[in-house]
Amino acid sequence: MTEKIKSLWAEIESAVAVNEEELEALRIRLVGKKGIIPALFEEFKSASTEEKRETGKLLNDLKNKAQEKLQQLKDSMGQSVSGKASDLDLTLPADELSLGSRHPINIVRNRIIEIFARQGFTVSYGPEVEDDWHNFTALNFPEEHPARDMQDTFFIEKKPDIALRTHTSSVQIRVMENEKPPLKTLAPGRVFRNEAVSARAHCIFHQIEGLYVDKNVSLADLKQTLLYFSREMFGKNTEIRLRPSFFPFTEPSAEMDISCMICGGKGCNICKYSGWVEILGCGMVDPSVLENCGIDSKTYSGYAFGMGVERIAMLQYQIKDIRLLFENDIRFLKQFSSAI
Ligand code: DAH
Repeated sequence: MTEKIKSLWAEIESAVAVNEEELEALRIRLVGKKGIIPALFEEFKSASTEEKRETGKLLNDLKNKAQEKLQQLKDSMGQSVSGKASDLDLTLPADELSLGSRHPINIVRNRIIEIFARQGFTVSYGPEVEDDWHNFTALNFPEEHPARDMQDTFFIEKKPDIALRTHTSSVQIRVMENEKPPLKTLAPGRVFRNEAVSARAHCIFHQIEGLYVDKNVSLADLKQTLLYFSREMFGKNTEIRLRPSFFPFTEPSAEMDISCMICGGKGCNICKYSGWVEILGCGMVDPSVLENCGIDSKTYSGYAFGMGVERIAMLQYQIKDIRLLFENDIRFLKQFSSAI
């Protein structure tokens, strides 16, 4: 009997159960009604007095050892989260990785840059905090021009004036001062105006400026470049028209309309039933602006244009309120996606 008890002791010590069924089978085999240990107790009853003396304590210890072991296996099973190997379903689809998307302003800006890049335009950047010379004076703004008023411009310092740039035209000046023609570049960036925020206007918005300076640059070059851009951006049937306008830094100056991409020119509420929507300002760089930057206006001529990115994004996606573009509401932003 002593031998049996010892070998069972060793067996119990090394026993394992990977799931509840195995544990139950082990329990039944060891301590169940017809289990090995109750059978040993049966055998004990009919043992000799000497044998009883020898095995009595061993048998009791074995019984305790078995119960301890069963409890231990039970406890360790509760600890591992997936107690049952069968709980793991490897065929289930994985959790979705939620990817972010580009902001609509960036989508539109990248698309505009990409279209002009095909026509040889590079990209230039200038500071958002600008001095009076680059934002106004070099661009021919007269001393008493309303844009120089506190009501339109966020000044940081007065005399000498330092302000948040009111347009990206300031980058034209920086490029012309620092590089020699031929120049063909875009200047995308944020601009700031001291305006009341409403559904149609914001005090911060984005512009893209274009500048081309070389020998013999003409209005025809400007028109063709803008026509190509408009058809790539808004569709191949798009028509453009230039309306005479005024900007201090271009002469002649124009505003460009495109045929309404919503109604195709028939008239709708987007184009206010005119069939046309204005998208940018442009013109031939005023010779005195070239001279302000040290470029000989007898040898060189140039064109420039500037457009508002929010305006184009609002037209393209039919966004009714400019403030949506600044609130970063994920439910709004999720609706836009792009490869670039
Ligand atoms: N800077 C002008 C504005 O903010 C836009 C503009 C008009 C830019 C004509 C130009 C241009 O380069 O030629 O309203």
